[in-house]
Amino acid sequence: MVGITALVSRTGLLPSGIVEKVEIKQPTWVYQKLLSRQTNLCATLCCPSYPDIYRDTKVDTKVKKDYYRASMVSPTLLDILNMQWLSPEMIKFDQHLKFPHLTNNSDPAMKRSEVNDIISSAKEFFSGQKFMLPEWAHWPPEKWLGKRGICNEIAENKLGWDITDFGSGDFYGVGLTLFTIRNGNWNRKDKSYCEKIMISEEEQVTPMHFHWSKSEDIINRGGGNLVMELYQATGEDHLSDSRVTVSIDGILTGVTAGEQLVLKPGQSICLTPRLYHRFYAQKGHGKVLIGEVSMVNDDVSDNRFYEKVGRFPDIDEDTPPVHLLVNDYPLYF
Ligand SMILES: [Fe+2]
Repeated sequence: MVGITALVSRTGLLPSGIVEKVEIKQPTWVYQKLLSRQTNLCATLCCPSYPDIYRDTKVDTKVKKDYYRASMVSPTLLDILNMQWLSPEMIKFDQHLKFPHLTNNSDPAMKRSEVNDIISSAKEFFSGQKFMLPEWAHWPPEKWLGKRGICNEIAENKLGWDITDFGSGDFYGVGLTLFTIRNGNWNRKDKSYCEKIMISEEEQVTPMHFHWSKSEDIINRGGGNLVMELYQATGEDHLSDSRVTVSIDGILTGVTAGEQLVLKPGQSICLTPRLYHRFYAQKGHGKVLIGEVSMVNDDVSDNRFYEKVGRFPDIDEDTPPVHLLVNDYPLYF
């Protein structure tokens, strides 16, 4: 039987209203409670303990995903708290448990087959550029099974493959291939730095954003030219039209707001907090291998996109994964 850890609130408020943490031996108990409204169970927050449900092969992947989404402490938690999903017709627990406010993401999902193709092409490009990835970058999903203990740092700090179309539904127009090689955690202070390797295709835009806390060096490590557009944020987080001074390989350089600054292979730029940036590979010069050396990366709370975008797309499982994405780990090990 699957064991689930649930946070139960008697007040109807989470997280401040959390009064009880219970171990539920039988999942139907949760659903029965929901249906009978015997308690104000606001959300069955199954993480962070990665409960057995993820390892139970009899539980459908879609159900696992719904549990995972419900468990993420992110802005979507507000949706969980506010949603009115206690009515029986909204929960078909003998089929798939649905969290309508979470699964009805208005952004189009990326197909797993597309993600597989993107990763395959990325591995080829990394290899061609002589950039070698950790061994586990090539592991199939089954190789992760049973390694939760020894691979905890990878899962907790979201190391690995991260393919995003920023919710655009058009990966090659707006999207980015990322592989996080190392990262820490602001709260645990286990490591204060991060390194990523990324690929931007020609004119494939990473949307305008800044970071509240993170400083990052973005490095053109090879391939084509990287175009960077910069704006200082105003006090109201709008785009300032004032000139920007940035460090390019240690040389202070004045840039006009929004100017197309071209970084050739070998060049890097230091992006400080509240400096809006948008980038893409220059047309006609090929895709770019982009390095990032930065302070700790936190995609949950440190990104401020100028326009609303999705950071981690839903995945339409039209085919099995060849490699896991960072958000897949809880589903597999
Ligand atoms: Fe950034």
